[in-house]
Amino acid sequence: MNHLLFYCRPGFEKEVAAEIQDKAVALECFGFCRIKDNSGYVIFECYGAEDADKLARRLPFRELIFARQMLVVTHELQELDLADRITPILEATAGYSVCGELRVETPDTNEAKELTTFCRKFSVPLRQALRQAGKLTREETHRRPVLHLLFLANDKVLVGYSYTNNNSVFHMGIPRLKFPADAPSRSTLKLEEAFHVFVPQEQWDVRLTSGLNAVDLGACPGGWTYQLVRRGMMVTAVDNGPMAESLMETGQVKHVRDDGFRYRPAKKNTYWLVCDMVEKPARVTHLIASWFQDGLCQEAMFNLKLPMKRRYQEVEHNLDMLREWLSGLEGEFVIQAKQLYHDREEITVHVFDQRQLTRRLSGSIQ
Ligand SMILES: C[S@@+](CC[C@H](N)C(=O)[O-])C[C@H]1O[C@@H](n2cnc3c(N)ncnc32)[C@H](O)[C@@H]1O
Repeated sequence: MNHLLFYCRPGFEKEVAAEIQDKAVALECFGFCRIKDNSGYVIFECYGAEDADKLARRLPFRELIFARQMLVVTHELQELDLADRITPILEATAGYSVCGELRVETPDTNEAKELTTFCRKFSVPLRQALRQAGKLTREETHRRPVLHLLFLANDKVLVGYSYTNNNSVFHMGIPRLKFPADAPSRSTLKLEEAFHVFVPQEQWDVRLTSGLNAVDLGACPGGWTYQLVRRGMMVTAVDNGPMAESLMETGQVKHVRDDGFRYRPAKKNTYWLVCDMVEKPARVTHLIASWFQDGLCQEAMFNLKLPMKRRYQEVEHNLDMLREWLSGLEGEFVIQAKQLYHDREEITVHVFDQRQLTRRLSGSIQ
């Protein structure tokens, strides 16, 4: 088999397919996607013999918007003998180089989730068998491929591998975050996940730290503001709705009852601009670009709510506009976009100026 497999949010298979077709062609790898609606995964069948492996190495996973995970599939095992599922898996992986990690997974659908307990239990004897067969090691795991088994039914599994420098580090491509009991809304997890995905943890003490100012547009009831406050920031929360009392009591939040599209800070001392307003994507994109054009913020994290149809095209159109607007400014702007696990019919976009950031990280800007 010469296939590339992508995990995604169920219902977004067409978006993954459109994105992969687009981006694989740019690397001169051709093929077609096999899609089953709401399955939570997409298979890209490559025409070229080595193309799946080439894409797994060269298609930057970080730049994929709708895919949660990317791996090469080498075998599809069907009608497994339930009394011995290990032998055929060992046979399928016989040609693999030694892996550093095993992930026994399912698509993120309700149906497949019924297999979760089985997967957890099965991974114990399988791991042992793979170690004995010399296919799995505890040494230098960060440099070795990850072995994936995607169970579609208890007797059907896709066998494949991903590269640690070009995959999601999370099981099933899903970061497990605990909902903080004192947060005012579940949306809080969207911003927390965005920080985990887009901001390297070793830079958190510079980019996500006390002493920074933030503006939250469309802040109520305060789930995003909560993430900024818990990191010690001073936050201007812009929204006509009510903010959670617990946040106001921290003394770190100024609530401004204003239109988020009109509000502008009096001083240029905002580090983070975050925005979760439910509005047309183009309007939000334009707003964020205008803050950078006016030098009003250093980094931005915002959500784009997606239309019902042609969602990949809509996203690309907005990102193209943003690139164009920012290209006229002084700086080296980085734009990252991802449909996060906690995002629903939306994606999260992150923007910053690499030059400014480098100066800040080197300590020349406080
Ligand atoms: C999805 S909610 C935000 C949830 C928030 N991020 C949280 O974590 O609790 C969208 C918010 O945007 C606000 N909103 C929508 N349009 C707005 C506008 N033009 N100006 C200010 N706020 C707006 C709404 O009042 C609503 O509170």
